[in-house]
Amino acid sequence: MASFEQIEDYAERHTRALSDLHARLWEETHQKTDSPGMMVGPIEGALLKLLVRLTAAKRVLEIGMFTGYSALAMAEALPEDGQLITCDVNPETTAIARRYFAESAHTHKIEIKLGPARETLKALKGPFDLCFIDADKGSYSDYYDRAIELVRPGGLIVLDNMLRSGRVLSPRDQDTRTVAALNDRIQKDQRVENVLLPIRDGVMLAYRR
Ligand SMILES: C[S@@+](CC[C@H](N)C(=O)[O-])C[C@H]1O[C@@H](n2cnc3c(N)ncnc32)[C@H](O)[C@@H]1O
Repeated sequence: MASFEQIEDYAERHTRALSDLHARLWEETHQKTDSPGMMVGPIEGALLKLLVRLTAAKRVLEIGMFTGYSALAMAEALPEDGQLITCDVNPETTAIARRYFAESAHTHKIEIKLGPARETLKALKGPFDLCFIDADKGSYSDYYDRAIELVRPGGLIVLDNMLRSGRVLSPRDQDTRTVAALNDRIQKDQRVENVLLPIRDGVMLAYRR
């Protein structure tokens, strides 16, 4: 019987690889940051890229950029006149993201908003075709509510870490309680059609009706 790691490795070897820039960003993020595990990684990165293509998105919003791995993946799938607005509070990791974006042929599509996402989201105007939520878990419920306002009907809201390594089954910490309550709320929300994929740490897809 194969282990979960072996299965994931097989899946990765049968998933279209992201760009060489991603490979270098992956290395540098491992060398220079304390939490490289925050990057979505090659499988979820490829999924996000494909979701941008499948929704024919032209305007994407990301909440939680870190060193830019997922932003770069999504930007690569946007058309030439597409736009990705991404937010983060951390100036050090944002500096790494900026250097990699500058090297990318897709840099003109990416706009970084440095500051608390709540403030950024207040000032933004929709509609967006896709919103990817991957920042502080305690604010997920508020981010989801704002995403519902900003994403057009027919668009997609994607939320990462919705399984919290399985802890949502019996939440013991506040962030996990917030995420578990949001899973319950999305499940009942008639404004969306949803599926919780057990990919990596749990990816919730919520199609905005
Ligand atoms: C899981 S990481 C994002 C990973 C990124 N999507 C990737 O694949 O590389 C979460 C990010 O959210 C940012 N963050 C945390 N609290 C935030 C807030 N209040 N507003 C904006 N960003 C925040 C952190 O600085 C961190 O870079």
